[in-house]
Amino acid sequence: MEKVTISLIKADIGSLAGHGRGSEDVLNVAKDLLEKAKAEQKIIDFFVYYVGDDLQLLMTHRKFIEDPEIHKLAFDIFLKCSEIAKELKLYGAGQDILSTAFSGNLKGLGPGFAEMCIEERKSEPIIAFSADKTEPGAWNYYLFKIFADPFNTPGLVIDPKLHSGFIFEIHDVYEHKKARFSMPEEMYDALVYLGAPARFVVKSVFKKDNMEIAAVSSVERLSLIAGRYVGKDDPVLLVRAQERFPSVGEILEPFANPIFVAGGMRGSHYVPLMPVSLKDAHPTRFDAPARVVALAFNLKNGYLSKPVDLFDDPAFDRAREIANEMMDIIRKHGPFEPHRLPLDEMEYTTLPLVEEKLRNRWEKL
Ligand code: F6R
Ligand code: MG
Ligand code: MG
Repeated sequence: MEKVTISLIKADIGSLAGHGRGSEDVLNVAKDLLEKAKAEQKIIDFFVYYVGDDLQLLMTHRKFIEDPEIHKLAFDIFLKCSEIAKELKLYGAGQDILSTAFSGNLKGLGPGFAEMCIEERKSEPIIAFSADKTEPGAWNYYLFKIFADPFNTPGLVIDPKLHSGFIFEIHDVYEHKKARFSMPEEMYDALVYLGAPARFVVKSVFKKDNMEIAAVSSVERLSLIAGRYVGKDDPVLLVRAQERFPSVGEILEPFANPIFVAGGMRGSHYVPLMPVSLKDAHPTRFDAPARVVALAFNLKNGYLSKPVDLFDDPAFDRAREIANEMMDIIRKHGPFEPHRLPLDEMEYTTLPLVEEKLRNRWEKL
């Protein structure tokens, strides 16, 4: 069986009137370019969409992950779209393109990517998650609940195909290191790191018995690459569902209880993460609540079915209500922590520029 790779690659290359909504004109350009790549058989299939201000290119192809040709294709599309965004005078046009010096893959250039190379099962349901106004570590909590918490995922207990557990690969994005933890035996060890999502980010989850890929996320943090504030890193995540993996319902369940994530307003505030349908993925109030969209697809020989917009379900109405309530509560803190991020994280915002001016005000006690 020929393998297929799913690549979800995203970038904020400009948006309409602020940071909440992409432009149809730019989307159509990306669509045409992907249509062309499909006609030329560079890719098998694609789906292109916006989540907030982030342009999402979901592609399937026969190359491996981090393939130079596929990454270049995505990068050229983002460059072309940035050009159009600049012509249209969109806000933040070209924002996530930190460098145009392409040399083999997208690492360090700005766009985020999550990719997995798989052998398609008899039926291959896969969920593409995209978030706006938060950072890659935001997935840690959810991945833990999905793949390691039996209170969330009954399959871990009652399905023999899931019972052996999963392996988490965690990246230290400050020190560029990685480590693997086996769940459930090393759950407490893993939580030492998972609980600090600004620095430790789950890159991949594997099935323990055969090391089959189950989930993969984007881990790049723009400000750590650029050394300056460039917005948050609005992450993406691919998760395989059903048959040997958690079910769609188990994968979505943790999103019914919103938690606080880093990333609202100026990338500097904790705000709730609100599960929404594609049509509601446009943060306006306080550039928040952070949004998460989940689109499910069935693969057929690499071709994508129509997307199923999973949070377009009244069963998530209460989660949205709770997220709005959480927003009201945290907003009361105004410029105070724990709404504002702790100082060490504020280093990656525009605050140090202000502090610079105040430095001489301080005298020794
Ligand atoms: C962007 C974001 C926004 C902006 C804010 C200020 O991802 O989180 O909250 O940081 O709208 O934007 P600028 O600095 O572009 O005026
Ligand atoms: Mg933006
Ligand atoms: Mg964004």
